[in-house]
Amino acid sequence: MDLNALLLDYKQMVEKRIDELFPLCDVKYKKVIEAARYSLQGGGKRIRPVIMMEFCRLCGGDVRDALDFAVALEMIHTYSLIHDDLPCMDDDDMRRGKPSCHKAYGEDIALLSGDTLLTEAFFICANAPVSSDKVLKAISFLSSNAGLHGMIGGQVLDLSFEEEKPDAMALQDMYMRKTAALLIAAASIGCISAGKDDEETLKSAAKYGYNLGLAFQIIDDILDVTANEKVLGKPVGSDEKNNKTTFVSIYGLDKAFAIAAELSNMALDALDEIGGDTEALYEITNYLLDRNS
Ligand code: IPE
Ligand code: IPE
Ligand code: MG
Ligand code: MG
Ligand code: MG
Repeated sequence: MDLNALLLDYKQMVEKRIDELFPLCDVKYKKVIEAARYSLQGGGKRIRPVIMMEFCRLCGGDVRDALDFAVALEMIHTYSLIHDDLPCMDDDDMRRGKPSCHKAYGEDIALLSGDTLLTEAFFICANAPVSSDKVLKAISFLSSNAGLHGMIGGQVLDLSFEEEKPDAMALQDMYMRKTAALLIAAASIGCISAGKDDEETLKSAAKYGYNLGLAFQIIDDILDVTANEKVLGKPVGSDEKNNKTTFVSIYGLDKAFAIAAELSNMALDALDEIGGDTEALYEITNYLLDRNS
């Protein structure tokens, strides 16, 4: 299997659909669309859309049935990055290989472009060309995982942990929310798009997203120490600068990687529970563990 070709295929499909669903249009307030599209297009691994579409295929669906939900999820992810980089949060000046949104457009427009991406994502979901049953379920998973008890709750904990130091359990709970929740949404909505949303399948999808998400954040922590900034496309040393507790600061680089590898294996176990043609998801999972950006 040619993983690079597969990833490129999905990436192009998603980026083309973003242009169709969220184009620049000539309105007086178009500056906010420009800023949102600046952050959304031309960078990013698109890993959440890829996982969603592969889960849809694994569950016997047509990947195009997941495409608009995948675009919506990528928009929500991008909004979380724009806000994450703001001076009041991680205060990082580079993202996806270029100046962060607030560096290019100012804090006010960056804030509003994040709001735009979040809101328009749900408009796109509501109008996805699939059954209203699938739309409702997708919106429910997306809102619950991106919202208060998911990504937002995780980001709030992340900020509070700059002051009060968390233990490993508290840190894991925070990662589950800030990072794994969107990957749980990706896998689950993939199954829903294919119409395979029985309790057992959704449980395995959530197990995959949870374990992959934790591993993904631990590798992100490792790259924050070890990566080349040009390759990474965002600053290295951001966590230390912000006094963050991470798996690296608790366990050191080697042990942190070993934990990520173990979690990644548990994600593979979840794929085995679903069965079928899991080859691509196996390869994607392994690639994410060994990634350098
Ligand atoms: C970065 O996500 C934020 C985390 C949750 C660690 P990605 O590593 O997926 O960032 P992009 O989308 O490729 O830029
Ligand atoms: C961010 O975690 C997770 C989000 C919900 C955006 P990080 O703060 O470590 O992400 P990066 O390293 O800035 O991409
Ligand atoms: Mg952060
Ligand atoms: Mg950050
Ligand atoms: Mg990071």
